[in-house]
Amino acid sequence: MTAAAPPGQTAVDYHERTKHHWHRFARSAGYMDWDNQPAPFRTYGDTSTIPLPLAPSDPELDYAALYQPAATPPAPFSRFSLGRLLELSLGLSAWKAVSGQRWALRINPSSGNLHPTEAYLLALGVPNLPDGIYHYHPLDHVLEERARLTTEQTRALGGQLALPGLWVVLSSIFWREAWKYGERAYRYCQHDIGHALAALSLAARLQGWRLLRLAAADTDIAAAFGFDRTPWQPMEAEEPALLAALVPVDAPHPPAVFSGEAIDLLSTIAVKGRPNPLSARHQDWPVISRVSIACRQPHTTAPLPSPADGPRSSQPEPASQPAAAIIRQRRSAQAFDPDGELDRASFFRILDRTLPRTACAPFDGAIGPPRISLVLFVHRIRGLASGLYAFIRHPDHLESLRRLSSPAFAWEPATPDQPLYRLASGDFRAEALNLSCRQEIAGWSTFSLGMLARFAPEVTDTPWVYRHLFWEAGLIGQVLYLEAEARGVRGTGIGCYFDDPVHELLGLQDRTWQSLYHFTIGVPVEDPRLQTLPAYFHLGPERRTTEEPK
Ligand SMILES: Cc1cc2nc3c(=O)[nH]c(=O)nc-3n(C[C@H](O)[C@H](O)[C@H](O)COP(=O)(O)O)c2cc1C
Repeated sequence: MTAAAPPGQTAVDYHERTKHHWHRFARSAGYMDWDNQPAPFRTYGDTSTIPLPLAPSDPELDYAALYQPAATPPAPFSRFSLGRLLELSLGLSAWKAVSGQRWALRINPSSGNLHPTEAYLLALGVPNLPDGIYHYHPLDHVLEERARLTTEQTRALGGQLALPGLWVVLSSIFWREAWKYGERAYRYCQHDIGHALAALSLAARLQGWRLLRLAAADTDIAAAFGFDRTPWQPMEAEEPALLAALVPVDAPHPPAVFSGEAIDLLSTIAVKGRPNPLSARHQDWPVISRVSIACRQPHTTAPLPSPADGPRSSQPEPASQPAAAIIRQRRSAQAFDPDGELDRASFFRILDRTLPRTACAPFDGAIGPPRISLVLFVHRIRGLASGLYAFIRHPDHLESLRRLSSPAFAWEPATPDQPLYRLASGDFRAEALNLSCRQEIAGWSTFSLGMLARFAPEVTDTPWVYRHLFWEAGLIGQVLYLEAEARGVRGTGIGCYFDDPVHELLGLQDRTWQSLYHFTIGVPVEDPRLQTLPAYFHLGPERRTTEEPK
């Protein structure tokens, strides 16, 4: 028997093994077992549900203000404000229909629209909501009650945590993605966590709240929220990703940790509910369990480090639109007009928004220092030469990327205002398209990009950082999605790309930097065959109410 590899090595091996190559994709079933597609909505039998109101109107906050530190005074915690938070982050955004088939889209995107991410809440002292642990069911926009706390339990928790309070846990069901993507699925689940985190963080800001990740071990989260005593179907267990607190933006002392006493107390509470089976059959991908265990966040009492602040924006703010409208209209483009263009000011504004600023959502959530910079394939930006560019999201990245990438690159500053460098001029549409698994959306857009993450020795030394890299990529991706909508164009996240060929194009020869995620933005071409239906039409108009429910 060989000794198990150290966790950091397990993560590096997983990454290596799940790379797509020109002539070999990462291992997957290789066919679509349509009859067995996992149910898109997790639901718990034998629990009571609490309906959340659907607000009849949205907050008026401007989209641009969403990125300001204190855009709006904090709303009080209530069932109404919680409903609004969840509707505008993880709720449905629309239904699509064609040829008698109908499927839901959500505010947060997901690879293959498979939605492996689930959300749980701990609510304490929130008006009209019994103290307890809940699962959010986006289809019905209800909370499923997993545990109700007694007055004594709430009192004991009140000694540890600030009340009234709301905490969120995000978890992944790996099988949902593995059904289609096989071994690479763990990556996509982590990306989706990043997108969901950003969606929650931005919807929180809409109500004057901040979403703050707390230091907590994954096993503690599993114990506190009852994951460790839930009768999961085989292969359908949920793996916690993170625990976050919702705090008013003006809170003088936001928490950094979830107290050990609170975890101990919650861990003794019985949880209710039998999870619905998602598929009849499963194919096991043992490498996913291995990497997931290797990358678990261990016990920690140290506060999570805050990212270094990025520079203040120097880009002029154009007239804005309501933030909620942009959030609701976000979609992935399926195809682009090859002649479509974007103006230079909009392009710079989009890039600027991806800079990590500690005081601004969604990069204020404490997932560590910025580790991602961008390599851009500029195709059709009016006023900017086509070519290959680098956008350096943190000054520490510049020297390393310059030293390790191709000596042929020019590294010529493209503008005095931004850390944007021209590496090479020319038409890179064919390269971009081919590198993104030959998907036309990467070549026929106005620009596409690859996200380069600091990888080794970070992941080898601290394996759970592997997940944070994908989360950071998801945060950037969500900002790009919304920015595209705000500039009248449309984006699409791209999880399918050829890993090492990207590194070869850039001349990167070791694992210091790894390509983690691609993205593309262009002028969308709609598919006229698809019919669009409103998000919650199936619940009837009576669920939209200005009233705080009794
Ligand atoms: C991590 C991730 C990877 C994705 N990869 C691709 C991709 O390679 N190609 C593609 O066309 N769409 C890709 N998408 C877009 C999804 O297919 C899309 O989000 C999903 O169908 C839901 O549609 P919506 O974004 O319009 O809500 C990706 C999305 C995410 C979040």
